[in-house]
Amino acid sequence: MKTPSDAGNSATVAEAPLQARATFTSSLGVLAATLGSAVGLGNIWKFPALTGLNGGAAFVMLYLLCVILIGMPVMWAELTIGRNSRANTVAAFQKLAPKTPWYLIGVSGVVSAVLIMGFYTVVCGWIYAYIFRAATGALAVPPEQTVEVFNALYTSPIQPIVWQWIVLAVTSAIVMAGVTKGIEAATKRLMPLLFLLLLICDIRALTLPGASEGLSFLLKPDLSKITAPTVLAAMGLAFFKLSLGMGCMVTYGSYINKNENLIKNTGKVVAADTTVSLLAGLAIFPAVFAFGYEPTSGPSLLFITIPAVFRSMPLGGLFCFLFFVLAAVAATGAMISLIEVPVAYLTERFGWKRNLATLATALSMALLGVGAALSSSLLSEFKIIGRTLFDTYDFVTSNVLLPVGGIFIALFVGWKWRQAAIAENGGATAAINAFTVFLRFVAPIAITLVLLQGLGIIRF
Ligand code: PFF
Repeated sequence: MKTPSDAGNSATVAEAPLQARATFTSSLGVLAATLGSAVGLGNIWKFPALTGLNGGAAFVMLYLLCVILIGMPVMWAELTIGRNSRANTVAAFQKLAPKTPWYLIGVSGVVSAVLIMGFYTVVCGWIYAYIFRAATGALAVPPEQTVEVFNALYTSPIQPIVWQWIVLAVTSAIVMAGVTKGIEAATKRLMPLLFLLLLICDIRALTLPGASEGLSFLLKPDLSKITAPTVLAAMGLAFFKLSLGMGCMVTYGSYINKNENLIKNTGKVVAADTTVSLLAGLAIFPAVFAFGYEPTSGPSLLFITIPAVFRSMPLGGLFCFLFFVLAAVAATGAMISLIEVPVAYLTERFGWKRNLATLATALSMALLGVGAALSSSLLSEFKIIGRTLFDTYDFVTSNVLLPVGGIFIALFVGWKWRQAAIAENGGATAAINAFTVFLRFVAPIAITLVLLQGLGIIRF
């Protein structure tokens, strides 16, 4: 994966307010970076957890609809804003619409990135912990006991914090050092390997006795399961999954060369990312039903089913270890793009060195994240409107801030900045015309209605 921290490495340099600005050097680099941001815990942890909690196939259908109707045009809009402005997400709007409040979209993006990292680092920490559990054989327990193994970690008041800080240290070290060619090359190779391992899991899970029930849970929609909060959860997941509504793709777009085709890149990222989510679902749900787990287990689903699936196959221990290593790689790639949002802002706004900006962000995260890390132990009773801090960070970002960001990004590109957006993409084509219509009408109206319904502010 290439990230902006490659600055200087054979990069073409474009103008930027305070520092030389790097650009990704190839289409593959652009794809790897944007995909590296999109693919992460959202696919292997959040997608299955929400699908299980919200009734299965009907939720998957809604999710796909949101990805196509809202996710794709908004991703294109963000990449276009970034590439044209060549600035961090706050400065981008200041540049394109000076002396207007549009820059608040960027401010909300920086806040969202920080809140998402608050709980993302916790789950990422569970994954890191599972690498060690898999390596030491601690996951080699009978399928019905994998729940207890997870609970021991989940409810510990110490371990989640320690792992969270390790995640922050690892991510900051990578961001500070710049992603070296080695890591970049390794990530490019490891991603297809994650894909392959998911396929192996799928084959194993689908051939378990009793797997077909899981398959129909995932594929046969029961429309009675659709409620307003379900639709909001599906839309929130689409934003979270594709790293949208918070300027992450604006930031990455600012490192993209003029000759790249942003529409094509959007299509490829969305297709690849959705495939990874569906493969994860296919690995998890057949096993849920085969081993008699509850599909509604939420956050623990991944951690109880995957070890159980691997347990029942030859070389399962090794595969399980590899699976969590690759999950950690995917999660760390997404973390890098999250941290990049405040880091790009701090370096360009205040002229801070990259190291200082990264350190400041990581330290703030270490403090803010503790609340989420303790949400399943010491702070389990501390609730804000019925939600723990972990759930609050998650809910407020995916189900409020990202969709609201999405509305304004759609309005900005659809109405205020439309001609420039079209010119930035080399003139109108059928795809661009379709995207701009979606941005003008479909996305803002749909997001607003889903949001107001889902939050219970209006009822039809
Ligand atoms: N898209 C990432 C995932 O699905 O795991 C999470 C994410 C990364 C969200 C970057 C937002 C973001 F800016």
